[in-house]
Amino acid sequence: MTKEPLTANIGSHFKKPSKFNNKKINVMTDKNNEVNLRPTIITDLDTLFRFQLDKEGGYLAAFMPNDPTDKAAYLDKYTMLLSNPTVNNQTILVGKKIVGSISKFVMEGDTEITYWIDREFWGQGIATKALKIFLSIENTRPIYGRVAFDNFGSQKVLERCGFVKIGSDKGFANARQAEIEEFIYKLND
Ligand SMILES: CC(C)(COP(=O)(O)OP(=O)(O)OC[C@H]1O[C@@H](n2cnc3c(N)ncnc32)[C@H](O)[C@@H]1OP(=O)(O)O)[C@@H](O)C(=O)NCCC(=O)NCCS
Repeated sequence: MTKEPLTANIGSHFKKPSKFNNKKINVMTDKNNEVNLRPTIITDLDTLFRFQLDKEGGYLAAFMPNDPTDKAAYLDKYTMLLSNPTVNNQTILVGKKIVGSISKFVMEGDTEITYWIDREFWGQGIATKALKIFLSIENTRPIYGRVAFDNFGSQKVLERCGFVKIGSDKGFANARQAEIEEFIYKLND
């Protein structure tokens, strides 16, 4: 995603949190009691950091930070994001196991989403289920999704959740070391 809020650019705008460990945890559950979402807490960050080290996942996501292995930068940034009221960070669980994350953020006035599933769990419909649950708790509309032109799995996830492709953009993708096309998806209601 060109705007790349949760992986690089926006962290520096936010204040440090004061009490991020005291968040109340509300677990949202899908119909089959398999995929759950709950607000991300600071102790999740270690696991979520490890997920985004995956090279194949990074290639798909494309618009990654310059150095995804920089753990200190990751923790600093996400610690700040967890206390930002315009960001909705949810951790995705299957049962009690953390399998990914999904987030809403505001970038240049547009509300956008992003998500990541641990590679071990790809192809099981988890991203689709997680996004459906997320959209039931995050009501901001319209909401946008940006996806690399060749990230077919993510495009399918968005389309299954009602997003419609409305255009495209170009941007430099760190994980590809090249300028690539990304598709812009929009959900109105
Ligand atoms: C994209 C991503 C979230 C998909 O997660 P997932 O849990 O595997 O997604 P789902 O299983 O819900 O749906 C993916 C669908 O796309 C399909 N798919 C995956 N790769 C595909 C490809 N290369 N070509 C065509 N279809 C593909 C899957 O088979 C599945 O469809 P199916 O249910 O009909 O089999 C996951 O690969 C990921 O986290 N990637 C790294 C980060 C990323 O790309 N985030 C999104 C940034 S926009």
